[in-house]
Amino acid sequence: MAEAGTLHDAFIGELRDTYDAERQLTKALAKLAKAASAPELRQAFQSHLEETQGQIERLGQVFESLDEKARGKHCDGIAGIIEEGKAIMEEDFDGATMDACLIAAGQRAEHYEMAAYGTLVAWARAMGHEEAADLLQQTLDEEKAADEKLSGLAEGGINQSAADSAPPEGESDDHDDEDEEEDEEGNADARAVGSGAKKSAGPKAKPAGRRR
Ligand SMILES: [Fe+2]
Ligand SMILES: [Fe+2]
Repeated sequence: MAEAGTLHDAFIGELRDTYDAERQLTKALAKLAKAASAPELRQAFQSHLEETQGQIERLGQVFESLDEKARGKHCDGIAGIIEEGKAIMEEDFDGATMDACLIAAGQRAEHYEMAAYGTLVAWARAMGHEEAADLLQQTLDEEKAADEKLSGLAEGGINQSAADSAPPEGESDDHDDEDEEEDEEGNADARAVGSGAKKSAGPKAKPAGRRR
C-alpha cells in the first residue's frame, strides 16, 4: 500500500484496459457490419471482427508471457466511442451517408487502439519484455492496416457517393440556409449559428453529403 506503483503496474493496468476494449469492440464491430450498406464495407468490418478475436487471444499470450492472469478492467474510453457510434446508427441517413458515418465511427476506435498499443509496445520494450512487445506490435500493425482500409473505402468512393446522394437543390428541408432566411427571418440567424457550430465540431468526420 505504502509503496508507489511502478511502470510495470501501469503496464498491467493498461493491458487489462485494452483487453476489455477489444472485447467491447467485438460486439461493436458486429453492429457496424450489420449497419453497413456497401458490401465491401460490411466485409471490412466483418474481417476486422475476426482479426479482433485473434487480438484478444494474442493479449492472452501477452499476459501469459508476463506470468499474469488474463483479466479485463472496464475501458471507459472505448465505451464512449462505441456510444457515439450507436447514436449515429440511430440517425436517419441514406445508405451512403450512413456508411460514411460508420467509417468515421470505426476510425475513432482504430485510432484509440493505435494509441493504446503504441504505448504498450514502447513500455514493453523499455522494460525488456521483448516477447510481449513483439506480440503487441503485431496487433498495432493490424490496427493501422484496418484504419488504412477504412480510409481507402471512404476516399475510394463512399464519401463521394454520400456527397452525391443528397436531394437536388430546393428539395432539402432543414439544411438550406437561404430558404430559412426567406421563409423564417426571425430564426435564420440562430440556425446559422447552430449549423456553423456543427461544422466546426468535426469537419473531417462529417461527410460532405450531410449538408446539401
Ligand atoms: Fe483491436
Ligand atoms: Fe481494431
